[in-house]
Amino acid sequence: MKANQPIGIFDSGIGGLTVANAIRRILPKENLIYFGDTAHLPYGDKSASAIRHYSHRIADFLLEKKCKTVIIACNTASSVAFNTTKKHVGENAVVMNVIDPVTSYVAVKYPKGKIGVIGTKGTINSRVYVRRINKLNEKLNVTSLATPLLAPMIEEGFFNNYISRTIINNYLSKNSIQHINALILACTHYPLIKKEVHEYYQKKTEIIDSAEIVAKAVKTKLTKKKLLSSQATSPKHRFFVSDYTKAFEESTRIFFKGEIHLRKADIWG
Ligand code: DGL
Repeated sequence: MKANQPIGIFDSGIGGLTVANAIRRILPKENLIYFGDTAHLPYGDKSASAIRHYSHRIADFLLEKKCKTVIIACNTASSVAFNTTKKHVGENAVVMNVIDPVTSYVAVKYPKGKIGVIGTKGTINSRVYVRRINKLNEKLNVTSLATPLLAPMIEEGFFNNYISRTIINNYLSKNSIQHINALILACTHYPLIKKEVHEYYQKKTEIIDSAEIVAKAVKTKLTKKKLLSSQATSPKHRFFVSDYTKAFEESTRIFFKGEIHLRKADIWG
């Protein structure tokens, strides 16, 4: 691995651009290669074995593109496919998920109390957040709730309006996530509804959006491994999807603060 190789990132679709955007902000010298598996979207209700199969092939694609990292931006894939993908990649790249940086942050910041987690069915049913937080700090009570309507709702542009508020309030009023110290937004799409979630809890609960925390963790890891890019020229980013539609391209505007050009990479043959 060499420092000036690109950072590889993947997600089930374009929502992971929230993570790519945070990485671009925190590491402005790095070239990024992003892959969105739009042919298999959504991962949230797929089986763990299907998601592992997809993740390994995507990791191979990022390695073919000479990436120094394979960052799993998708919470669902991070929940069920991180260990196998890490094994699959071996020493060829640094593999990271979006869960460990957040669980470490929470376990240190809250010595005791109650932490809520919302995400797709795949993420919540895996119970990975509960297990990892309690492994670091057994005094924390971790409760979680699957909120499967939120990702498609956001993707269709429904946020900061009365429809999104009604759906969000309906989910958040469930008993399991009342009186919590912090709520983890465990899905690529949820940074876009952070404000509405904040309003629901009337600012009494910390709302944790993982994109920023993950980007900082990537910086720390690359610094430690002496893999930070030193290039002086302005960075080049490339964005690939497994299935191209104009609608996907238009939605990049929501997740990356500006529309970007998506290229189709036919990795499924
Ligand atoms: N990227 C997924 C996640 O963060 C959300 C969309 C999907 O279900 O594929 O869990």
